[in-house]
Amino acid sequence: MRIAILSRNPNLYSTKRLKEAGESRGHTVDIIDTMHCYMDVTSSRPSVRYKGRALPRYDAVIPRIGASVTFYGTSVVRQFEMMGTFSINESVAISRSRDKLRSLQLLSRKGIGMPRTGFANHPDRIDDLIKNVGGAPVVIKLLEGTQGIGVVLAETQKAAESIIEAFMGLNASILVQEFIKEAGGSDIRCLVVGGKVIAAMKRQAAEGEFRSNLHRGGTAKIVRLSPAERKTAVDAAKTMGLNMCGVDLLRSNHGPVVMEVNSSPGLEGIENATNKDIAGMIIEFIETNAKPHKTKTKGTG
Ligand SMILES: Nc1ncnc2c1ncn2[C@@H]1O[C@H](COP(=O)(O)OP(=O)(O)OP(=O)(O)O)[C@@H](O)[C@H]1O
Ligand SMILES: [Mg+2]
Repeated sequence: MRIAILSRNPNLYSTKRLKEAGESRGHTVDIIDTMHCYMDVTSSRPSVRYKGRALPRYDAVIPRIGASVTFYGTSVVRQFEMMGTFSINESVAISRSRDKLRSLQLLSRKGIGMPRTGFANHPDRIDDLIKNVGGAPVVIKLLEGTQGIGVVLAETQKAAESIIEAFMGLNASILVQEFIKEAGGSDIRCLVVGGKVIAAMKRQAAEGEFRSNLHRGGTAKIVRLSPAERKTAVDAAKTMGLNMCGVDLLRSNHGPVVMEVNSSPGLEGIENATNKDIAGMIIEFIETNAKPHKTKTKGTG
């Protein structure tokens, strides 16, 4: 097969591993810089141009779209879908998952467990917003945050109020979330491919820290999931319409709760923690599923 990895950086671990895994299974794998693709969107024969020429027809694309380039990146994926190329994750599903509020609303509608969460831009009654998710301690998150930056634990009602006021002064939309203390500074990353959890790791925050992000000094190791955790991860992926994703769970007193679903999960931490050939399993999924025009929405959504 002919596979394209849409990635800004050929030197990233995940990009390199996917290329290596594809080639070792006998495929031709090109790495295409999403942001350098351009196209004539009005053409009756859709194509994607790159470095002065039309790209060949690929059987499948693997989008690795960074959060900061979601808008342009998903439009490139959509163009491939219009050409009939199979995308492991559809453009609409990627856009959907990038909107944290929309994601939480969708998951909630499907009855998937999540921490009690409120969101706001300019509430008149901050005290009520906090009480409404169960009161302090609460976790306050900037909507645009990543790698643990912009995630704050407010231990008291007063602290929560002043943090929210500060964020409001910056005109930032925020999430206010029940603090899952019993998770003990750990979360669980489940990698779901084709409706199955193919690997899972537990990330533990550094001493004195509640955020388990590896970028914040967290450490990862392999973990065994309970059937409820497995089901929650699979249901979350299905709700978001993602064939491949990372589902982050917290172990709460009221069962597994979903924090986030990531459509371009990194492979380094989880391959190292589990010793599994995850890149190989992703290519295997593509081998079985990539048929022309199989993208459900065909780029029209
Ligand atoms: N409600 C919560 N209760 C307990 N711990 C939490 C809660 N929300 C987040 N955490 C901890 O903080 C970490 C960072 O939070 P989160 O994943 O929401 O933000 P992020 O990593 O900055 O964003 P993203 O995952 O979108 O890149 C989590 O991995 C988890 O360990
Ligand atoms: Mg996170």
